[in-house]
Amino acid sequence: AKLSVRDALRAQNASGERVKVQGWIRSVRSQKEVLFLHVNDGTSLESLQVVADSSFDSRELAFGSSVKVQGQLVKSPSKRQNVELKAEKIEVVGDCDAKDFPLKYKERHPMEYLRQYPHLRCRTNVLGSILRVRSEATAAIHSFFKPSSKIKVPEENFFNIPAFLTVSGQLHLEVMSGAFTQVFTFGPTFRAENSQSRRHLAEFYMVEAEISFLENLQDLMQVMEGLFKTTTTTVLSNCPEDVELCHKFIAPGQKDRLEHMLKNNFLIISYTEAVEILKQASQNFTFCPEWGADLHTEHEKYLVKHCGNMPVFVINYPLKLKPFYMRDNEDSPQHTVAAVDLLVPGVGELFGGSLREERYHFLEQQLARSGLTEAYQWYLDLRRFGSVPHGGFGMGFERYLQCILGIDNIKDVIPFPRFTHSCLL
Ligand code: 4AD
Ligand code: MG
Repeated sequence: AKLSVRDALRAQNASGERVKVQGWIRSVRSQKEVLFLHVNDGTSLESLQVVADSSFDSRELAFGSSVKVQGQLVKSPSKRQNVELKAEKIEVVGDCDAKDFPLKYKERHPMEYLRQYPHLRCRTNVLGSILRVRSEATAAIHSFFKPSSKIKVPEENFFNIPAFLTVSGQLHLEVMSGAFTQVFTFGPTFRAENSQSRRHLAEFYMVEAEISFLENLQDLMQVMEGLFKTTTTTVLSNCPEDVELCHKFIAPGQKDRLEHMLKNNFLIISYTEAVEILKQASQNFTFCPEWGADLHTEHEKYLVKHCGNMPVFVINYPLKLKPFYMRDNEDSPQHTVAAVDLLVPGVGELFGGSLREERYHFLEQQLARSGLTEAYQWYLDLRRFGSVPHGGFGMGFERYLQCILGIDNIKDVIPFPRFTHSCLL
């Protein structure tokens, strides 16, 4: 039978079954009479030990080569692994010249180095782990929403008509939420961010949800916190080794920080309170905190620390700072909208969301203020025909992965990062 490395490693009481395994050689060690290979096929962090006798040519079996191995799965005499594969036949499918191969045997390459090889870096342990976590988290997010997902929002695609890459699926989701009370979308979004920061990409994945008959930010924040905690708990239980590798090698102490986040309730402060807190510490900042101004990265970081390194929701931002669709709080003289951002340790802003302005006249005014009245008649229409209070949010998926794994640079949690002036692959 053909087995994945993962399934081979999990075989209970291996007692000589004949199996075939295929993958890439991660290590070669030759002793007098025997040759030990480790073969990995991406299905797990651990590689499968293959034991070959001296009739196999060790020069052919090189680090990086792809192989098909046939043999018997047996209990391993060593304590380092449960099972090993006694090779009867090893076929080198594609050899690999160590001289030119950018990945060097037994070397731990810095992330910056690996970033130069987007076509090869997924062969390393660390990228393997990150990408397996990425995949688990994707599945966990889908299943978090599954009971409510009946609709997949199609991507925009036109012939001969100017079309744009979307910066957010929100407005389309709002259309859908006029018929289906809970909808979500999860796909690539695009921003022409002229930023070299370690948390901005030009193409990133966003999870967005929209909920109808939702009347307050509390209910929205509950879904946001639920999405974060449920997804993370699922990932931790489905790929513990991969998460552990990232925590141990990349972000020591991250395991405890993450547990702390999962165990406690996320905090909530208003934008106005946030500015007060920041003002008291203004000597720490390059940008002076001021009511009515955007929060800078340094401010977000400070707030998270101030809140005991817990994720913190910041709510009710000045209307002037936010887009036209956010719901007016009617709280003169401050004049805020029912917006919510979630700030998290290590990353800063992870979620952005709001209640949407469902009242025709308010929205009409906001559109006029933004000079968008003409383009958004259809959006205004939604408020004429069976409008309901609703709200939603977007979560940056790469920032989410950075946050749980403790990864410093966003370019390392996506297979092919596209950012300012760079589209290597
Ligand atoms: O705060 P943003 O811009 O919110 C929206 O787009 C709303 N329309 C979402 C909604 O309510 N449906 O983006 C949401 C999140 C941010 O909090 C951040 O995590 C992530 O998307 N994000 C980015 N991630 C990586 N690179 C970028 N350039 C990002 N811009 C935003
Ligand atoms: Mg935002």
